[in-house]
Amino acid sequence: MKKLEEYVQSIPDFPEEGIIFRDVTSVLQDPDGLALAIDSMKEKLTGIDFDIIAGTESRGFIFGVPVAYALHKAFVPIRKKGKLPRETISESYDLEYGSAVIEIHRDAIKPGDRVVLIDDLIATGGTIKASIRMIEALGGSVEKIVFLMELAGLKGREQLKGYDVESVIIYEGK
Ligand code: PRP
Ligand code: MG
Repeated sequence: MKKLEEYVQSIPDFPEEGIIFRDVTSVLQDPDGLALAIDSMKEKLTGIDFDIIAGTESRGFIFGVPVAYALHKAFVPIRKKGKLPRETISESYDLEYGSAVIEIHRDAIKPGDRVVLIDDLIATGGTIKASIRMIEALGGSVEKIVFLMELAGLKGREQLKGYDVESVIIYEGK
């Protein structure tokens, strides 16, 4: 059986020179790759007590929903600004050029809710930190964070001290 790493195509110099893009679509477009990715993320939650999986638009949805479904948990979407119809709270975070804003429905997390965060990738950690800030602002606790891939060279994990963080695949570079 192929290992998960073998399904990830690495694209040199995308989106710009010197960056190796780890392409998750090559995992998704193979049924064995997709199953292995979801199963591997689900396994990281063995023994964790929690109520809700939250995932950030858009790739956090791709992996968050199937894991939530498999474990019969609720799923809460964290969306890019302006998409959620009811009362929200928001957070901004830095991108390479400029910043971005994400939002969550205020009633999606209740005080005491135990939340797991899922995303496809941690790079600088900006996206996940903004997601954590919103969950905690609503009174939720972040019980675990699971990524499919981690670009360890960007040191995003240093922003997550004190949290239980696991990545299925760790790339040493950027
Ligand atoms: C990508 C990826 C992570 C984030 C990681 O999302 O899916 O969410 O970047 O980067 P960071 O650790 O430096 O914050 P992107 O913002 O490209 O949007 P997408 O999920 O809609 O593709
Ligand atoms: Mg994303």
